Amino acid sequence: MRKSAREKREIEAMASKAKFFLILSLLSVSVRHSISEDPVPTPWPLQFHSVLLMNYSGIPQIINLWYDWPNGRNFNIIQHQLGNVLYDLEWNNGTSFFYTLDSTKTCSPAQLEVGILRPNWLDGAKYLGQRHVDGFLCNVWEKVDFIWYYEDVETKRPVHWLFYTGRQAHVMTFEVGAVLEDEKWQAPVYCFDGTGTTVNDVALHQNLPLMTGVNNRLLHQNYPAI
Ligand SMILES: *[C@@H]1O[C@H](CO)[C@@H](O)[C@H](O)[C@H]1NC(C)=O
Ligand SMILES: *[C@@H]1O[C@H](CO)[C@@H](O)[C@H](O)[C@H]1NC(C)=O
Repeated sequence: MRKSAREKREIEAMASKAKFFLILSLLSVSVRHSISEDPVPTPWPLQFHSVLLMNYSGIPQIINLWYDWPNGRNFNIIQHQLGNVLYDLEWNNGTSFFYTLDSTKTCSPAQLEVGILRPNWLDGAKYLGQRHVDGFLCNVWEKVDFIWYYEDVETKRPVHWLFYTGRQAHVMTFEVGAVLEDEKWQAPVYCFDGTGTTVNDVALHQNLPLMTGVNNRLLHQNYPAI
């Protein structure tokens, strides 16, 4: 049976449409391929200790960060310059204690809906390329317009965190596997028996639970104070 000229034209049109879709799908495969080649942030180790040099609008602080995922706890021990030390103890059940261990017996407990950051909390962060920061060549990611995260290209260690408020953390040490002894995680008795003073100090609240704060913000995207 001979095909009519019209049938031939239709077959040719279909063939060229098929080619077009083949090219389209090849293109989308290659686009997907290049997206999947973007570096991804290294998940946090399950336990680590880090000394952070913080800069909050030019005000320096040193934070000893003890991240302990298997035990569901996170500690920020905050040294103010020539000032006091604040203990920000965060549990994965959402309870946080913010206290001093001096004669003021300050303790502010807080209950948040979320716990501490998961080791893979940076999943889905947007890759922004490479930049030099603090003298290191870093891969940079941004997560929900909240944090800019800089990781050393070579060693994959975090180098620098920048929060949307302008608060900066320079990561000075990063000891993978370091764990703080259990007894240090005990909040003082005045956090529980009502004999402590709660303080509505601005400086105190600037420092409200750091990691649960980040987590809360990431989950609900509405937690302004960090
Ligand atoms: C601290 O932050 C201020 C701006 O808020 C900036 O001018 C200064 O360079 C920063 N210092 C360090 C050591 O990052
Ligand atoms: C969460 O865990 C801590 C530490 O075990 C505990 O002190 C606190 O009472 C717990 N909070 C709740 C709401 O169960």
